[in-house]
Amino acid sequence: MPVKRYAHADIDFAYVDEGTGPPVLLVHGFPLDRTMWDAQVAALSTDFRVLAPDLRGFGESGIGPGDADDGVSMETYAADLVALLDAAGVSEPVVLAGFSMGGYVGWQFALQHVDRLRALVACDTRAIADTDEAAANRESMATEVLAADSSAAAEGMIPKLIAPRTLEFGGPAVARLMEMIGRATPAGIAAAQRGMAVRPDVRQQLAEIAVPALVVVGEEDAISPPTEMAEIAAALPDATFVEIPTAGHMSPLENPGDFNAALLDFLASLS
Ligand code: MLT
Repeated sequence: MPVKRYAHADIDFAYVDEGTGPPVLLVHGFPLDRTMWDAQVAALSTDFRVLAPDLRGFGESGIGPGDADDGVSMETYAADLVALLDAAGVSEPVVLAGFSMGGYVGWQFALQHVDRLRALVACDTRAIADTDEAAANRESMATEVLAADSSAAAEGMIPKLIAPRTLEFGGPAVARLMEMIGRATPAGIAAAQRGMAVRPDVRQQLAEIAVPALVVVGEEDAISPPTEMAEIAAALPDATFVEIPTAGHMSPLENPGDFNAALLDFLASLS
């Protein structure tokens, strides 16, 4: 897929932009990049214009000079997405699908840029803020990757990201996940971990997000469990809740068939 570029805040960003039709914006998780959505870009781009960016510090996108030290807030990643839409000439409101950290960014996009949003897909994500312990663990990983100048510490996340049976049988999902995490840079990891550690608890604001929403989760998700995501769906004014079988946290990668079917059904319901 050809990579396009845009500049914003003195940073050079990469994204793919495939197909024509109503715009769909796919926002990746941590510590991943736009390629986690390859199966969704392929499935959706026959009927939709699909944009999948690398968030700052990930994939082929650059990062700001102070970002690793200061952290990048979810609000800043959301503002980068608005700049992408402007650069790509997308003025029509988009359907934003955010996976995990991309979902945290999605809440901020929905709360601060609602004029640019047609509908929201919250994939394997959370509305609650970090506990003190979780925030401290993020700071430890940020310090460790920067000191070692290696992303190796992030590889320890793999057993939590995918369902035990996916991990046991290996295969393409595991290989692709390892490649993506291996590509992540210490600066990108530190910036995101420090930003996620201070992200707000948005549970009380979910009622304000009035656009149609799809809340989708792998049935074995250990990071954003189905019970927690069902509560998010109940708190949103207009949400459909779908559990993806035989998948853990990485449902778009572990079971793209069922994930894409849920996403396409939702998109069809909007028209
Ligand atoms: C992700 O998949 O984006 C991460 O698990 C999110 C997080 O670390 O909270």
